[in-house]
Amino acid sequence: MGPKNDTEPGTETPPEALHRPVMLGEVLDLLQVGADHDYVDGTLGLGGHAAAILEKSAPEGRLLGIDRDQRALSLAERRLAGFGSRAQFRHGTYDRVGEFLNELGWAEVHGMVLDLGVSSLQLDDPERGFGFLQDSALDMRMDLEEEVTARELLDDLPEKELEAIFREYGEERFARRIARLIVRSREENPIRTTRELCQIVSRAVPFSKAQKIHPATRVFQALRIAVNRELDLLRKFLSKPPDFLKVGGVLAVISFHSLEDRIVKWAFRSFENFQILTKKPLRPGAEEVSINPRARSAKLRAVRRLE
Ligand SMILES: C[S@@+](CC[C@H](N)C(=O)[O-])C[C@H]1O[C@@H](n2cnc3c(N)ncnc32)[C@H](O)[C@@H]1O
Repeated sequence: MGPKNDTEPGTETPPEALHRPVMLGEVLDLLQVGADHDYVDGTLGLGGHAAAILEKSAPEGRLLGIDRDQRALSLAERRLAGFGSRAQFRHGTYDRVGEFLNELGWAEVHGMVLDLGVSSLQLDDPERGFGFLQDSALDMRMDLEEEVTARELLDDLPEKELEAIFREYGEERFARRIARLIVRSREENPIRTTRELCQIVSRAVPFSKAQKIHPATRVFQALRIAVNRELDLLRKFLSKPPDFLKVGGVLAVISFHSLEDRIVKWAFRSFENFQILTKKPLRPGAEEVSINPRARSAKLRAVRRLE
């Protein structure tokens, strides 16, 4: 994993082995991917969903892939090179989809998919600080051109704001204790690495054998969401109906966090002239979860544009 994957052709792990697309069959069914239709993948990642959509929309269907992570985008571009100009790429956030489609001169598309959250490539890259299994600098930016890192949030935010982040984005019961210990620790020494943060969290949270996940999991998730303003961007994108869809076109969103799912659910209900295709969110089957644990918290919702 890591930089080797996009710098040494011939030695790298293929993208399809790095990240498995979640609920792929369900997404393809909801989008009803058809020959020669056009699509957008707003969170291209390593191109798993995109590759399947391009295959199913052959021979002339096109796909615009957007990702804010240049490294993921470059890998996906290589993976999808065989589709030639049927695959187009843009670096940026998915709320800019209208602007990108205008640039390409694609008026309306038949569908769009969002698969929110982090990719396995990001989580496993020891340089990026998303995971706590390796020791690395506290970065967590999906887009390395953005300015604020996790380290800066930990250095600068008042205790109350840190607490709110851990409570809201991490659903962490011990948010106050963790925030307090972070502030006390940083007065002595700034927190610089994932390991240091992990140690502070372990000291703040009472150890219990019953815990299924490492106590730092929720804190890392919360910081990642804050650093990347994930919920703000989702709200911005869903603040108006997806009018770049053709009549009959479908928007499908896979979320991994209850706050994300709630935003998607209420936004879909507010769209006029759209039909909700998933009264309840679809969940991955037991078989998928056993092969791909990242899928376990996935919820998939979709809407279709009406006349
Ligand atoms: C879970 S991965 C997508 C995996 C992809 N569906 C696949 O099958 O390979 C999520 C990707 O979305 C990107 N991302 C997250 N939020 C984004 C946003 N607001 N705009 C654009 N890309 C975003 C991340 O950088 C990451 O590469």
